[in-house]
Amino acid sequence: MQKKIETQLAHLQEFSKIKDPFGASHFPIYNTGTFDLKKQKGDKIYDYTRSDNPTREVLENLFTEVEGGAGCVCTHTGIASVALLFETVLKANSHILVEADCYGGTFRLLKVFKEKYNITVHFADFLELDTLESILKNNPIELVLCESPTNPGLKIIDLKAVAKVCKANSALFAVDNSLATFMSQRPLELGADFSLFSTTKYVSGHGSVVAGAIVAKTQELAEQIHYYANAHGRSQNPMDVFLISLGIPTLKIRMKAHQEAALEIVKFLQEQPYIKSVNFPALESHAQHALAKEQMEYIPGVFTVDFVSVELAEQFIEKTKIFGEKCSFGSPDSRVEIPAKISHASFSKEELAAIGITGSTVRFSIGLENIEDLIDDIIQAVK
Ligand SMILES: Cc1ncc(COP(=O)(O)O)c(C=O)c1O
Repeated sequence: MQKKIETQLAHLQEFSKIKDPFGASHFPIYNTGTFDLKKQKGDKIYDYTRSDNPTREVLENLFTEVEGGAGCVCTHTGIASVALLFETVLKANSHILVEADCYGGTFRLLKVFKEKYNITVHFADFLELDTLESILKNNPIELVLCESPTNPGLKIIDLKAVAKVCKANSALFAVDNSLATFMSQRPLELGADFSLFSTTKYVSGHGSVVAGAIVAKTQELAEQIHYYANAHGRSQNPMDVFLISLGIPTLKIRMKAHQEAALEIVKFLQEQPYIKSVNFPALESHAQHALAKEQMEYIPGVFTVDFVSVELAEQFIEKTKIFGEKCSFGSPDSRVEIPAKISHASFSKEELAAIGITGSTVRFSIGLENIEDLIDDIIQAVK
């Protein structure tokens, strides 16, 4: 019987190959650099933690299972999983096609690859499938990458449709699943070749460590990411695996709670005269609301609002007492940020305008606090 994801998450230790003699509730932490070859028998031999580690393998086995892939590498940061994807698939002079609304760190990394390895980066709006198809037909694109929901624009990309276009044009398709998480959305089941995510965010949920993961659909791609992870030293250390694992069993109830709280706060904000517009895929007014509901089980508790002025947006950020001015999302504490100043500072003003982000756009990540407390904090901050 195939167990549901939340059951698997609650029994993480079952993804360990080590049969613990004490029935410990948590899998063992092998915080070691090396393993003695003479002392091991069996089909799997460990030699060095950069290549393989039995603790890291627990999370890698779990993510492979829940994403429906053939193999996974847990990386030392979320952006390292994006770097590992590029290092695995791209060569000097390759072409890559990326959704224009992407995380600022991914955008910066693309600039690095462009400058150092002469990679041609094509940006497009992935809601326009015809444009996508035409770029793929007219350029030797090897890799296509998008987030869904996008960050910070919160567009919902039709992953099944994009996967089909990529396949027809022999391009590999990777989805950054950091925002939705495998609890809500499984890109490999929709046709993607890679699903990658920052475990810093919802997956761990406590915000005390940075890490990431990349899952490959096929055995061949899984072997390749493993090879390059070892070659480039991208793998996550065992102690961080332990820290990330602590939040994982509660992922489902957290995603549900984040969504419900975000929706209540958005509904409050919508009625306020100082708010020009709100952008949240859980709202029926969102342009891809139907697709969001079809593609994701839970809509992550991240939304943006446009204040009537830059001054008010800045005053709000300055005066909030519960909301921290912090980048990242998916933590128990609610946070706000002006993407143009923080998470997307690597974009120019024009590039931000093209994805609908201005100086008065504030991104919220709703945590797990009492909702009335959050609304009271908003009210006092705009006075
Ligand atoms: C969508 C997305 N992908 C990747 C990353 C990078 O993750 P990390 O900060 O863990 O390196 C982030 C970080 O904010 C992100 O928002």
